[in-house]
Amino acid sequence: MQVDQDRLEELSTRVSEHLAGAMGVLLAHLGDELGLYGALSRIGPSTSRELADSAGADERYVREWLAANAAGGYVEYDGESGRFHMTPEQTLVFASDGSPGCMAGLFQSVTSAFMDHEKNKEVFRSGGGIPWGDRSPCCFCGTERFFRPLYEESLLADWIPALDGVAEKLSNGGRVADVGCGRGRSTVIMAGAFPNAQFFGFDYHAPSIEGAREIAANAGVEDNTVFEIADAKGFAKRDYDLVTVFDALHDMGDPVGIAHYIRSTMHPEGTLMLVEPLAGDRLEDNLHAAGQLLYGFSTIGCTAVSKSQEIGLALGAQAGPARLTQVLREAGFSDVRLAATSTMNIVLEARP
Ligand SMILES: C[S@@+](CC[C@H](N)C(=O)[O-])C[C@H]1O[C@@H](n2cnc3c(N)ncnc32)[C@H](O)[C@@H]1O
Repeated sequence: MQVDQDRLEELSTRVSEHLAGAMGVLLAHLGDELGLYGALSRIGPSTSRELADSAGADERYVREWLAANAAGGYVEYDGESGRFHMTPEQTLVFASDGSPGCMAGLFQSVTSAFMDHEKNKEVFRSGGGIPWGDRSPCCFCGTERFFRPLYEESLLADWIPALDGVAEKLSNGGRVADVGCGRGRSTVIMAGAFPNAQFFGFDYHAPSIEGAREIAANAGVEDNTVFEIADAKGFAKRDYDLVTVFDALHDMGDPVGIAHYIRSTMHPEGTLMLVEPLAGDRLEDNLHAAGQLLYGFSTIGCTAVSKSQEIGLALGAQAGPARLTQVLREAGFSDVRLAATSTMNIVLEARP
């Protein structure tokens, strides 16, 4: 075996950075849940004792956590004063939940993937699946927190305006189904912007639907939102003017059958908006850091959820626009086009 020393060094360096990052993500999730970043950004330059007291945590653990965070560049350390602080950029990434730059939802989602290790090992061997509801619970909140800023940034500003005539229709009324809505963040954003339209969120995972109802109530949109526990192949037909599926079709076992069912629930002049993770059509288009992350989620989460359902097609989270278009055409949609792209998503528009 001939080993190229330069390549070996380059690979070892990259993997070492990933290993440090894996610990960084774990500690970042801990810091997020314990409110350590929030406290540090609030009280400013602090010793470990001051931060521990402010966050109600043990000083010795906090001191070690701060050292790891400073080593990773997640917080700043001043050797002269012995104090730690966060720059505005660090505050944005670690302590500004809900804002587009905040990555706390990703820390939660990645950490939850590690928690399902034994189940993942079992299905790799058996070829079986893991239903969404059997994932570790922080997967559900992590998913909502991860997607929320992306939807808040693009859904009203770019995605709906990119659909032919939909914004006008919803301004005047209309019915919308959000299929596989999870904790309903997308539904709530749309319902707030289009108070004359009626929004129905469907998901087969009961705790997510309960969460969606709570989020809708807190956002003051309970009058024009209804959340129902339902499978994507069996939700109530109401001649929808718009059906949306956000980051969920690839999780489903039978995307063609479900898209076919969705088509049957729509008004003949209606629109399907399919939002899926950003990906190129070929594997080689997706071989970069974002691809590593999304194929990772897909391996641990999406593939397993799909394989737990009827058909178990396992499209994967990096299916790409051509494959997704094929799915919609096979389901009977006549007019499918790529309507928009954003940093993390592609948006397909289809007509029945
Ligand atoms: C990755 S999450 C996305 C949730 C939500 N759309 C969002 O963007 O936050 C996928 C969702 O699809 C739901 N799901 C998967 N298979 C389903 C099915 N057959 N019927 C209904 N919901 C399903 C899961 O329960 C989960 O809430």
